[in-house]
Amino acid sequence: MAPFVRSDYLFIVVTLSFSVSCCFPASASTVKAAYWPSWSSSPPSAIDTSLFTHIYYAFLMPNNVTYNFEISNSKALILSNFTTTLHHKEPPVKALFSIGGGDADSSVFARMASSPVTRKAYINSTLEVARNLGFDGMDLDWEFPEDPKQMLDLSVLFDEWREAIEAEAKATNRAPLLLTAAVYYSVDFLQFGGRRSYPVRSINQNLDWINAMCYDFHGSWDTSKTGAHAALYDPNSNISTSYGLTSWVKAGVYPEKVVMGLPLYGKTWKLKDPNQHTIGSDAVGVGPGKDGVLTFAQVEKFNTRNNATVAHDMVYVSAYSFVGTSWIGYDDATSATIKVKYAYALGLRGYFFWAVSYDSEWEVSSAASRAWTQKE
Ligand SMILES: *[C@@H]1O[C@H](CO)[C@@H](O)[C@H](O)[C@H]1NC(C)=O
Ligand SMILES: *[C@@H]1O[C@H](CO)[C@@H](O)[C@H](O)[C@H]1NC(C)=O
Ligand SMILES: *[C@@H]1O[C@H](CO)[C@@H](O)[C@H](O)[C@H]1NC(C)=O
Ligand SMILES: *[C@@H]1O[C@H](CO)[C@@H](O)[C@H](O)[C@H]1NC(C)=O
Ligand SMILES: *[C@@H]1O[C@H](CO)[C@@H](O)[C@H](O)[C@H]1NC(C)=O
Repeated sequence: MAPFVRSDYLFIVVTLSFSVSCCFPASASTVKAAYWPSWSSSPPSAIDTSLFTHIYYAFLMPNNVTYNFEISNSKALILSNFTTTLHHKEPPVKALFSIGGGDADSSVFARMASSPVTRKAYINSTLEVARNLGFDGMDLDWEFPEDPKQMLDLSVLFDEWREAIEAEAKATNRAPLLLTAAVYYSVDFLQFGGRRSYPVRSINQNLDWINAMCYDFHGSWDTSKTGAHAALYDPNSNISTSYGLTSWVKAGVYPEKVVMGLPLYGKTWKLKDPNQHTIGSDAVGVGPGKDGVLTFAQVEKFNTRNNATVAHDMVYVSAYSFVGTSWIGYDDATSATIKVKYAYALGLRGYFFWAVSYDSEWEVSSAASRAWTQKE
């Protein structure tokens, strides 16, 4: 919990680099991905594609009875514009659509995945949407399967989805569509309901990769203490990025199928005592931002406008800032650099951001991109 000094940071980076050369497979190409929320004020054409390899359109949702995607003409124009724009950028990036999201009704997925007839209708419709609108693939963001039965259904859904993708690719003589899933930060659930685990065999066999959502570890549901909501390490619990990522690998998911999530937003608290302002200090409510959330760009503005003190905790690996009773935990270029080097050292496929439009002048996205390729 010592305050950040630059020599600590260098020490950590150098220590990690010993294991860097061992595990990265040459066959799987790096993933530097980001989700583009459809409610973003900045258009896909504004994305600096030199920093990314894959951009996800977030989100689409199937009809809750037929499980088909009913895309209006105006929506189809927006989606074709999305894929065409990204394919024609210099350099071009791949475009996927993500299905579901944190605000979606997860019972729709539970019902769809529970029977062969509805799975088939849904899978067929995802392939139609992808090919008709020029996507390179799709992503399932089901938050979250609730019990072991739903995990089993998810496993079968992935089996059948992959089979359909391969059959379509063969029949049309095209490259198979990509299939990915946004998943909980760890392979076993430690929060949000009872114990259940993701289907490792099915993930390895059927998915191109998983996007592990290593964020939202703390938030407005616990206003008693400040928290680093995407901490790399936590000395007091298993709710951390390092625990989550290693849990996937220990469970047998190939490291090259695991992509680490990074947040481009912070979580805020109202301090009980303005003089107690570290990670885990007492709090009495949420701080600035709707529901205690600010995008990275908003955090930077807030810090500048209010002369907030910016600090880095090198035990947790997180940035935080404070002024008066306001406290914000977030990732910045410094913490993202260390986390990306950690993911690289673990032999993972890459990293992704939620969300691309929340960065400030590409500050964090650039630091992450440099960190991945930089050999120390
Ligand atoms: C399906 O969606 C409609 C419209 O949003 C809603 O009224 C209905 O209750 C939903 N049905 C189910 C089974 O969830
Ligand atoms: C996409 O939409 C934008 C804004 O309406 C427009 O400027 C651009 O030309 C469109 N791009 C394509 C590839 O259709
Ligand atoms: C989806 O189903 C329709 C109707 O059965 C079929 O014609 C079409 O080829 C299917 N699409 C794909 C991509 O499998
Ligand atoms: C963390 O996880 C490990 C292994 O999964 C377990 O043995 C340990 O008890 C957990 N620690 C806490 C604090 O939950
Ligand atoms: C912030 O600090 C600068 C320079 O130290 C000072 O001029 C300015 O008045 C301060 N602003 C606020 C809002 O405290």
